[in-house]
Amino acid sequence: MSHPEPAPSTPRESFGSRMGFVMAAVGSAVGLGNMWRFPYAASEGGGAAFVLAYVFMVFLIGVPIILAEFAMGRRSRRSAIGAVRAMGGRLWTPLGVLFVITSLMVLAFISVITGWVIRYALDGLLFGFSATPGERYADVSTGGLAIVYHLIAVGATVGIVTFGVRRGIERASLILMPILFVLLIGLAVWAATLPNAAAGYRFYLSPSFADVLDPVVLQGAASQAFLSLSVGMGIMITYSSYVSRDQNLGREAVIIALSDFSVAFVAGLVVFPVVFALGLSEEVGESTLGVLFISLPSAFARMEGVGRAVGSAFFITLIVAALTSAVSLLEVVASVGIDQLGMTRRRATLIAGALAAALGLGPALSQSWLGIMDQLAAELFTVLGVLGVAVLVGWAMKNPEGELLEGASPTFARLARVPIFLVRWVAPVVLGLIAWIAVRETIAVLSGSG
Ligand code: PFF
Repeated sequence: MSHPEPAPSTPRESFGSRMGFVMAAVGSAVGLGNMWRFPYAASEGGGAAFVLAYVFMVFLIGVPIILAEFAMGRRSRRSAIGAVRAMGGRLWTPLGVLFVITSLMVLAFISVITGWVIRYALDGLLFGFSATPGERYADVSTGGLAIVYHLIAVGATVGIVTFGVRRGIERASLILMPILFVLLIGLAVWAATLPNAAAGYRFYLSPSFADVLDPVVLQGAASQAFLSLSVGMGIMITYSSYVSRDQNLGREAVIIALSDFSVAFVAGLVVFPVVFALGLSEEVGESTLGVLFISLPSAFARMEGVGRAVGSAFFITLIVAALTSAVSLLEVVASVGIDQLGMTRRRATLIAGALAAALGLGPALSQSWLGIMDQLAAELFTVLGVLGVAVLVGWAMKNPEGELLEGASPTFARLARVPIFLVRWVAPVVLGLIAWIAVRETIAVLSGSG
């Protein structure tokens, strides 16, 4: 049972159930990043060794940062900007603003990609996958229809968020996430039966420890972990501001991290066997988006009837993953409008949606825009956001442990100092280094494409 605390001024919305909050947070974490970026990053960055480095980052920094965001959100019961001010003072406002900007940018470009995914799902359902997937991809990813489908994706997100925390976000997550899990497990079982599955697994996971010691690969694993866990963007702050004091935050953070990792890992068990079944492995090296939108559809096309059914299921899974993440990003911005600017939910959601729609026009029309927004928001701003959370909660917020102890089980109560120690001492150092590499990479990308 939940016992919503009285909010500081106006009555605040809340999740209706423990599972509702967990599924909404898992829905946020599980997204295109799991289905598309993780398998690719792992295969490029050292296979099983990358997976180990990734899990290490998730538990060393990711889970403690989720807990830090939870402590801020649940104690302050405010939106991302209100929370950083309440916990750190007005000087911290820029961090809250960074959260809003990052959320809007990520929402804009993932909505563009979601638009493409919707078109592929419709291809599969209505006509079958194209026999010339390269051309199909060029077609889908540019031009007026790319804008139209981007707007459809934003519209669906706005549609869910306007219904509010319980009737919109919670209900959608409770319905959609189990569908995603079932579809993904079904896909992985099917993929295991493909002729060349073992070669696919080998390509995905064969360990190369030399790669993992490369700082750029480590930075890649860390950014992927933050992006995947949806930290550094104000999402976990916002969602936990709707959570009751008797909820065991430690358990929830671990469930979120494990579910997120499992989905990413299993996505790789689907993607690579499919690609290898038809000997398309040479094409995999090209680009992350190439795997998703060229290699996989071409495999589905060649598998004919089965491919069409399975491929449609695959793209529907992607739509679900993307939509529940988009919802959380929009909620960050909408809740700032509601809390800070006194807007109604409807108005705040519509304005935030309109901003994301407009910001997505660039990436809908040009892939290099998309690359730049991805680099800036997903690689750089989220790392800076996580660093900001670590310093704020580690050094400025009063007694963060105290907040984690509320509702804690006896086991977590005994451990609650550990994540705060990591947030205070370990995260700033590791994140400082990662941020430094990310800044240099971003400058290289921007000057390379400028
Ligand atoms: N955490 C989600 C994912 O991994 O797909 C949503 C997301 C967050 C996507 C941040 C992209 C991003 F840069």
